[in-house]
Amino acid sequence: MDRVRVELGLRSYDIVIHNGALEQLPALLHEEAGDKTRVMLVTNPVIYKLYGQKVQKNLGMSKEELIIALVNDGEEYKTMAEAERLIDLLIEHKFDRHSLILALGGGVIGDLAGFVAAIYQRGIDYVQIPTTLVAQVDSSVGGKTAVNHPNAKNMIGAFHQPRLVVIDPLVLRSLSQRDFLSGLAEVVKYGLIADRDFFDFLRDNAEKINAREDQVIQQIILWSCRIKGYIVENDEREGGIRAILNLGHTFGHAIERYFGYGHYRHGEAVAIGMGMAAGLANQLEMLKTDDMEKILELLKSLRLDFPDPEIPAEHFMRLMSMDKKAKDGRLRLVLPTDIGKVQIVVM
Ligand code: GLY
Repeated sequence: MDRVRVELGLRSYDIVIHNGALEQLPALLHEEAGDKTRVMLVTNPVIYKLYGQKVQKNLGMSKEELIIALVNDGEEYKTMAEAERLIDLLIEHKFDRHSLILALGGGVIGDLAGFVAAIYQRGIDYVQIPTTLVAQVDSSVGGKTAVNHPNAKNMIGAFHQPRLVVIDPLVLRSLSQRDFLSGLAEVVKYGLIADRDFFDFLRDNAEKINAREDQVIQQIILWSCRIKGYIVENDEREGGIRAILNLGHTFGHAIERYFGYGHYRHGEAVAIGMGMAAGLANQLEMLKTDDMEKILELLKSLRLDFPDPEIPAEHFMRLMSMDKKAKDGRLRLVLPTDIGKVQIVVM
């Protein structure tokens, strides 16, 4: 069983990564969160059928002790209205500061359940049990929780670290190829921003990754969580280095906005954005042509070489400048300067 410790003083926690970890959830919860008399399992109907029912059975708690809250799948349910509905349930079932929320699902479930945990009684414990690759390597780690505003994604939120993250890579077997690739884009991002050895590992193991071999998938999740954990430890509230996690994202968010959310998967847009960032860095003579080509080749070998979408340049610039990370109307782009190194450029 692999563990990554995220050291944040009183808010420190473990990320447990293990093929089959879901089976060991009751023991892990007992060890890390203590025994709770009230638990709410937040999940979506599909994940509930696939894994939630088993989790419910394994926890062996009564109906009064374990409440199941189903949230429909999709960004459109990551709302204040859903958060309020969950809070109503917590109040109805007399949840207090010693209660626990379990977030079993992808980014929508994790962000929403985490947000509810952050604000209910000014903060209660929650445990992330991510079931998509993007959630396992990115959104479940680092304590960013949020719901969407009708006009802007993730606009209402809080930093609230989970008590524990339990990652069972075997659950990815039920993930569609498109969702798998979307998560893989975030995995590649870690090699580009922080670690040449990881980049080389991804290149050397591309075939095994494409075949979704269990051992290699577990390894890339572990490596990604180590890098993400390290960045969060050093900049919990994104005052500095954490911003490098946005490589490809400013381009990606512009692509997602132009076509409407849902047209591109987030990771698909990020993969295109990382290719664009490499191209721009090369044009600005910040990145050698040879390194740019290596980046594009890695994206290709992992089937992340999506064609650039056709967006008129003036639209693209306008959409990029609407990015949440823009400051005083100026763009802040994360650009690669070498394999495993990036720089934040204000334009
Ligand atoms: N997903 C970017 C971050 O956690 O900061």
